[in-house]
Amino acid sequence: MHPDQITYADRFDGISGRAIREIFKMIAKPDMISFAGGNPSPSALPDTEVARIAQTVLQEDGKRILQYGATEGYPPFLESLKGYAEEKAGRPVPAILPVTGSTQAMDLLCKALINPGDVILVEDPSFLGNLQCMRLYQAKLVPIPSDEHGILLDALEDAIREHHPKMLYVIPNFQNPTGKTLALERRKPIAELAEKYGMVVAEDDPYRDLRYSGTPLPSIKSFDEAGWVVYLGSFSNVISHCMRV
Ligand SMILES: Cc1ncc(COP(=O)(O)O)c(C=O)c1O
Repeated sequence: MHPDQITYADRFDGISGRAIREIFKMIAKPDMISFAGGNPSPSALPDTEVARIAQTVLQEDGKRILQYGATEGYPPFLESLKGYAEEKAGRPVPAILPVTGSTQAMDLLCKALINPGDVILVEDPSFLGNLQCMRLYQAKLVPIPSDEHGILLDALEDAIREHHPKMLYVIPNFQNPTGKTLALERRKPIAELAEKYGMVVAEDDPYRDLRYSGTPLPSIKSFDEAGWVVYLGSFSNVISHCMRV
């Protein structure tokens, strides 16, 4: 039998990576300044600094770094990450899990929370890569309209009442693909709606530190008194995508 006859799992029905592949083809053109993907300028990639740091840590603690370790990660990294994560989230964080990029965090969240048919509320439009991940877990995606200040709270609450979602996926700063930033006055209400209706908020915030003017806004997580918000950070867009942290 030819491998063409392999039947794929139902969860692959309707899945296509084509859009992302097309975008990456365009990005690869040397004369292209593409706004389609979140790729930094090559001149911003800190290759020399990363080489120096890698050499230092491997020389100082290489045997431990190259060995199997605790699931929660390399202890000195966890220690330094804690302060960084708390500054980003704007509050003490009870648990931090280093993963291979925010993409893996989304995958783990879906794996842990989403049954086929569960509803995830998403901004309209939203980040292709994570929408794909949610579809792989057979979530039903319900788009929520936005204005220039991000997701509309009335529409959000109406959708929560109608669809009883498991999760809201939101990119609060310099949203991909719209570039919009969620207004300060909409952030606390989102944390409150999550608690009121029992809905997890996946706050995907890889672009927070790419602010060139003004002060960073408090995260939705900073208003999360009850613990419904999972804050996803990333070093992809401030250091390098390929570090996968
Ligand atoms: C909104 C958003 N979330 C997540 C990612 C991917 O992050 P990571 O490279 O940490 O997996 C991207 C891409 O850069 C993105 O635009």
